[in-house]
Amino acid sequence: MKTLVVMNEKGGVGKTNIVAHAAWFFAERFRTLVVDLDQQANLTTTLGAHLAAVETVDLFAEATAVPPRGPLTVTRSTRELLGVEGVDRRCIEVFRDSLRLNGPAYDVCVVDTPPALTNRTFGALLAADAVLAPIGINDYSIQGIAELLRAIKGVSSHYKRPEPLFLGLLPSIFDRKSRRERELFESLAEQAGKLLFPGVVAKRDAYAKAASDSEPVWHQKGSAAREAAAEIRGVFETVEKRMRLRA
Ligand SMILES: Nc1ncnc2c1ncn2[C@@H]1O[C@H](COP(=O)(O)OP(=O)(O)O)[C@@H](O)[C@H]1O
Ligand SMILES: [Mg+2]
Repeated sequence: MKTLVVMNEKGGVGKTNIVAHAAWFFAERFRTLVVDLDQQANLTTTLGAHLAAVETVDLFAEATAVPPRGPLTVTRSTRELLGVEGVDRRCIEVFRDSLRLNGPAYDVCVVDTPPALTNRTFGALLAADAVLAPIGINDYSIQGIAELLRAIKGVSSHYKRPEPLFLGLLPSIFDRKSRRERELFESLAEQAGKLLFPGVVAKRDAYAKAASDSEPVWHQKGSAAREAAAEIRGVFETVEKRMRLRA
């Protein structure tokens, strides 16, 4: 099993939209486990048809197996997740051990993270084979990039493990109609260079509809949905290649 962590300590940058579509995309080809670490549980709601018997919080208490319930299995977020943010940091390694334990039962695991650098996010980073970082195209998001990269490196050096593959910064609610965003994107591309993921997810109504209908954009009708589908599937085809998910 290879683990993809979608993280950015900022909220509202499109993390959960990307994880939901990654879940639907990978479940078409791989045995897919999805972990919702955000107590806001938006992902748990959107992927409610695929919930495991196990809650995410269980993965922090002891190494816990998640019995697969089909091509897609999702561990549910609950408010109890806030309880793992105490001083005891052992839960970070326990979470890593839980994912390890599930290695043989799944090909790929996708983790959605809360908008904060917490024990949960550190656990995700400790378990990560690859990290994808959705970002907003605005000054605040761009200013946060250095801290984001520091967190990824920090966890690896603290636990003396190789760094996960950084797949890149993915502009994820990119408003191409906004001149300001287009300009910011150009300057980001110049400054961030190779840190930028080769692709974007544009701001489109189809994604908001996907969340409320619990269906990927490629199940929607119409040319706008087809464009969204080509765009986001392209992103995951690149992720799949870079993570060498196909044996
Ligand atoms: N590419 C997009 N185009 C339009 N709306 C989007 C897009 N991505 C996400 N959204 C919407 O924006 C809001 C925040 O997105 P979400 O994925 O929940 O972000 P995060 O998980 O980073 O907080 C949600 O209402 C979601 O439906
Ligand atoms: Mg979210």
